[in-house]
Amino acid sequence: MKGELSLSCRDIERYLGEEESRVHALRGVSLDVESGSIHAVVGPSGCGKSTLLYILGLLDEPDAGSVEIGASPISHLNDQELARRRNELIGFIFQFHFLMEDFSAHENVMIPMRRLGQMNETEMHERAAALLEAVDLGDKLRRQSRHLSGGEQQRVAIARALANDPHVILADEPTGNLDTGNSQRAFELLADLVREREKALLLVTHNRFIADACDWVHEMKDGRIIVSHPHGQRISV
Ligand SMILES: Nc1ncnc2c1ncn2[C@@H]1O[C@H](COP(=O)(O)OP(=O)(O)O)[C@@H](O)[C@H]1O
Ligand SMILES: [Mg+2]
Repeated sequence: MKGELSLSCRDIERYLGEEESRVHALRGVSLDVESGSIHAVVGPSGCGKSTLLYILGLLDEPDAGSVEIGASPISHLNDQELARRRNELIGFIFQFHFLMEDFSAHENVMIPMRRLGQMNETEMHERAAALLEAVDLGDKLRRQSRHLSGGEQQRVAIARALANDPHVILADEPTGNLDTGNSQRAFELLADLVREREKALLLVTHNRFIADACDWVHEMKDGRIIVSHPHGQRISV
């Protein structure tokens, strides 16, 4: 699996907004992410990072260009088929993690599994427990999300992103609302799980220590990737 192309896009163009205030949010973005690798997208606010993640995550469609996930082209699928691919192939982590506050950690991790509908109740329970164990929350399965700390909630979000064993994990400023120590720990945990399980991870970050630890860093400006650096080269986040 390692080195196989897991996520790629070519020449993505996206316009947003109404006629007179129309924004050319993406201007020809191409990207390749291999299984087992971690890519960061950095750049100033408004440069198109979230728009790109939405398109790669099949939550939005480009005006031009193509997306491939796990070597299957995504264009021309109907909405139902797109939703199925999204549930099967992609895990999301957002800055504001959107956990269901009244649900337990365990129930939150089961939500994507219920949506996909391929496991029975026992299998879902066991898988969710194993994932929470992997993010070191084995002792807090039953706790309501509202009673978990920010760092713990973010670990639930990481476990939830892995629920359906996706090829690709997309994370939009996943540690943005955590302090430095918790950010670092959440990132390291996610990075270890991604490498161990041969996932592809693409994350948007403003944290230069996190960007420095990724295999590739793509700098965006005004809707374009202006430069991509491999691990170890200096960047200007
Ligand atoms: N729904 C929308 N309608 C109009 N413009 C939008 C919409 N969403 C984003 N934009 C604009 O598109 C550009 C890219 O936004 P975004 O991808 O959110 O940037 P980033 O995540 O890098 O901060 C910005 O100029 C933003 O104002
Ligand atoms: Mg954004």
